[in-house]
Formats: sequence, structure tokens, C-alpha cells
Amino acid sequence: MDGKRIDGKAIAKRIEEEVASDVARLRAAGTEPRLVSLALDEEDPSFASYLRAREAACRRVAIRSDVETVPSASGERGFLEALDRLGADASVHAILLKLPLPAGFSEERIFSRIEPEKDVEGHHPLNAGLLALGRPRFAPCTALAVLEILAAEGIALAGKHAVILGRSRVVGAPLAALLLRKGTDATVTVCHSRTGDLARFARQADLLVAAVGRPEFVPGDWVRPGAVVVDVGTHSVPDPSSAKGWRLAGDVRFDEAEAACSRITPVPGGVGPVTTAVLLRATARAAGGAR
Ligand SMILES: NC(=O)c1ccc[n+]([C@@H]2O[C@H](COP(=O)([O-])OP(=O)(O)OC[C@H]3O[C@@H](n4cnc5c(N)ncnc54)[C@H](OP(=O)(O)O)[C@@H]3O)[C@@H](O)[C@H]2O)c1
Repeated sequence: MDGKRIDGKAIAKRIEEEVASDVARLRAAGTEPRLVSLALDEEDPSFASYLRAREAACRRVAIRSDVETVPSASGERGFLEALDRLGADASVHAILLKLPLPAGFSEERIFSRIEPEKDVEGHHPLNAGLLALGRPRFAPCTALAVLEILAAEGIALAGKHAVILGRSRVVGAPLAALLLRKGTDATVTVCHSRTGDLARFARQADLLVAAVGRPEFVPGDWVRPGAVVVDVGTHSVPDPSSAKGWRLAGDVRFDEAEAACSRITPVPGGVGPVTTAVLLRATARAAGGAR
């Protein structure tokens, strides 16, 4: 069964090696690529652990990574001012926001204030528009990571039916645009919470991407025999059999889906590490050095 599992860590390692050589070139030319994450100064253990993993990845490729925290009391205005400062600071090449944004913050106002040349997640309307036109500059790293995985595994999509469960701005919708592009040429169906019969669509998929944000939501009998399954979901679920009392799970019931599919990304070790590697590459590109 192991032969079906896609090794996201190995794919990420290959991308990191490329990025490390790009960064070395940039540094030799006097540029220190720098990524800054912007967040409110609130306690968030899961963000802290995500940050630690990302900081470690940045260190491996010699990208400078900082976190700028905005006092919660300064509200959306403080956040926008911080974005303006980072946009104007020539030592910052890439800006990342902690999502979801705090309740009451306007996504439209905030996304529109990110300097487009530093918008490595592709949130700014200009970057989102370029993606919609099929000419992506920066695009959400998780969506790009799915494409990266399929390419690394030699999975061609021309003429295939891709079914995406989820239409969010950060995963489902940009992934649909990427899969539809000329050159990738999938036929794409996007499902969401108002889709009537999810199982009917899922069972038609040559490529089934789960990005619903619900732990172990997709049962094995939604997977067409031989389909490729990409599981974007990341959740910690209670697990009394584990020493920690919890384990990571995706949006897919892994064991059931693995039995039916031809290839599948596990959680952890699938989309997550590739997403981080793609972010590093986008940062190097923003600093002027990516291939
Ligand atoms: N591995 C990574 O690097 C990475 C990165 C980002 C996110 N994630 C994970 O990916 C998952 C999705 O993230 P997201 O930000 O896209 O989540 P999101 O913003 O909550 O969007 C979820 C999408 O799923 C749809 N949905 C929710 N419940 C549904 C149901 N019962 N039936 C059909 N559709 C349903 C929603 O439909 P509506 O639009 O109709 O509400 C929405 O389009 C989460 O588990 C998140 O943790 C992983």
C-alpha cells in the first residue's frame, strides 16, 4: 500500500534545494531575501507551531524570516498601517498574513493594501486577477502545491476530470483556475456547501481534491477506483491511543481512500510541506532570484 502514498516531504526537499541555490545567488549579489509574517499579538498555539516549522524551513534555505505583531488594540487600522510600512520597507521582499483575519477586519481592504510585488500568497486583486486570466504571478501557495505534487508525480491532467471539494479564496477557487489553464487542461468541477450531492460529483473524479476543512469528511466510497486523491485538510483530532492524545488528520478517511485510489497524499507529510517549500520559492522570486 505504501506505493500509493505520495511523499510530500521528498517533493518539498527537492524544491528547497532549488530555492537554496537561488538564495545563495541572491546573497552573493548583495540581497538578503526576507519574509515577514504579519499577525495580531494574540495567543495562538497552533499558529506558533506552524511558525516554528516555517522558520526552520526558512533557515534551511537561508531566507530571513520575521514575525511582526500588531497590538490587538490598534485594530484594523494598525494592521493596515503595518502593511503600508512593510510595503515601503525595501529590506522586506515577501509579506504573509495570518489567516483567517480577525473577526470584523475587512478582507477586501486588507488584501488590497498588500504591496502586490511582495504578495507571495496572491491575495491582492491584481494578483488574483492575473491568476483568473491564466497568467499567474503570485498565487496561493497551497493551490500551487497541489500542481507541484501532480507534476512531480508525473500525473498528467489533460482531458482528465478534476473535482475540487471546496471553493475558498485560498485553496479551491485558485486551484480551479490553475487546473483549467491551457497547458494543464483539466476539466474542473468545483463543489461547495450548497452542492446537492457531493458523492455523485466526487465519484466522477480522476483527480479528487478535498479542501472542505472538515476532518475525515470524505469516505472511501466517494473515490473512483484508480483516482488520484489530494487531501488539503489539516486537523488535529482526539486520539486516546496516541501519547499526545491527538493526531493529525485530513479531510479524507485515509485508509478507506487508500484502498480505492491509485495515489494519495497523506496528512501529515503530503500537501503541507510542499506548501511551505512553494512559499520559500515565491519569496526568493519576490526578492528577484527565482528560476
Ligand atoms: N496543507 C496546507 O498547506 C493548507 C493550507 C490552507 C488550508 N488548509 C486546510 O485545508 C482545508 C480547507 O481550507 P480552506 O481555507 O479552503 O477552508 P474554508 O475557507 O473553510 O473553505 C471550505 C470550503 O469547503 C466548503 N464546505 C464546507 N463544508 C462543506 C460541506 N459539508 N459540503 C460541501 N462543501 C463544504 C465550503 O463551502 P462554502 O464556500 O459554500 O462555504 C468552502 O468552499 C482546511 O482543513 C485547512 O486547514 C491546509
